[in-house]
Amino acid sequence: MPVRLSSLARGLTSETAFTVLAMARALKAQGKDVVELEIGDSPFPSTPYAKQAGILAIEENKTGYCPSLGLPEFREAAARFLKEEFRIPVGAENIVVASGAKPFEQYFAEAFLDPGDGVLIFSPQFPTYVPNLERRGARAVLAPLSPERQFRPSAEAVERFLAEDPQPRAIFLNSPHNPTGGVATADDLAAIAQVATRGDLVVFSDEPYCHMVWSGRHESILAQPGMLERTVAAYTFSKSYSMSGWRIGFAASSPEVVAAFGKLINTTASCSPPLAQHAAKAALELDKETRDNYMARFEEKVNRLCRGLATIEGFIAPKPAGTFYVFPDVRTVCNRLGLTSHGLALYFLEGADPKFGVACLGGECFGETGAGFLRFSCAEPDERIDQAVAFIPTALDRPEAIKAYKDANPQHVLAKPYAIG
Ligand SMILES: Cc1ncc(COP(=O)(O)O)c(C=O)c1O
Repeated sequence: MPVRLSSLARGLTSETAFTVLAMARALKAQGKDVVELEIGDSPFPSTPYAKQAGILAIEENKTGYCPSLGLPEFREAAARFLKEEFRIPVGAENIVVASGAKPFEQYFAEAFLDPGDGVLIFSPQFPTYVPNLERRGARAVLAPLSPERQFRPSAEAVERFLAEDPQPRAIFLNSPHNPTGGVATADDLAAIAQVATRGDLVVFSDEPYCHMVWSGRHESILAQPGMLERTVAAYTFSKSYSMSGWRIGFAASSPEVVAAFGKLINTTASCSPPLAQHAAKAALELDKETRDNYMARFEEKVNRLCRGLATIEGFIAPKPAGTFYVFPDVRTVCNRLGLTSHGLALYFLEGADPKFGVACLGGECFGETGAGFLRFSCAEPDERIDQAVAFIPTALDRPEAIKAYKDANPQHVLAKPYAIG
């Protein structure tokens, strides 16, 4: 008899970037040359002091369990960092450590949501938000972000959510935003904070790209008056310090919420690896210069990719306000070829050429609002980015390959042209 999985396990959707990554790696193993712009990872090594501290922690046998909330000295360093860099008034008692930013989505859902609760998510959205709500039987209520508003979240959408939802409970914010690159301003956040307070909403503020703001500055809703009590803001070392594989991050909130998260961690992961915490502490205290250098190099890559993509007919590729993603509008190209945007992405990877491919993602991997867009990360060296950009127009100019790809993959054929304007 086949094993019977729970309805949650059967229905769980996941992050397509990892699926496309597996496809790209399988094609590479067969000898195909693939430029990988699908996953939001860094082409740079982890920052040097972090590496040293991690190695030392192993050599000094700092390899046992540690408190579920994290090492006191790391929590102290994380609080200092938030105070100094983003003017967030916190101490060590406001900090909880976990393996990256992602686990906090689950902990937030478990700490605050009951079945039937409504959660406002600005869409397109990071793909694991909805599955984490589903763990608790909560409902995602999607509010569209638009290019006309530079993909910034609006207080009006929160007002509407409060007025219309039968059980409004929480908001998910993500600034700088994956996949669109939108960056919320202090005014946006002040207005959202007011409405959230009035409606007694709690906020998950996902801030993995806090050092990747190319115009304006990073603002956290945590810095708004009174918001520490009703917000969990998540930070990670994956992007700023090129430490995605170390799996280390932290969140800030009130001491009561932090204590509740400690129990959730106690009953699942136990704790995060102390050697990664020692490394992350060193990153915060000693690797600022390398981090800033990496951020400047990421911005150059973003500029390079935007400049290149903007030269391709039918691609509208403005520079994002933040993040290392470029999110071009390719609706006219999709309509002309009769391919969905994710179909177009997979055509560049699999169908256009037997020897060379480009891996990227269709915007619909981040919700239907993203359809008609592509998401490219800047995860490859500059010359590889140039190769990818040079390849795309040639791939678009191969009618037989496009027809063969559509014939073999009817699921990627565009049923109805994307609306434009
Ligand atoms: C918006 C957003 N949230 C969370 C994460 C997960 O971060 P981490 O890998 O540090 O857990 C990512 C990673 O790409 C992200 O883009």
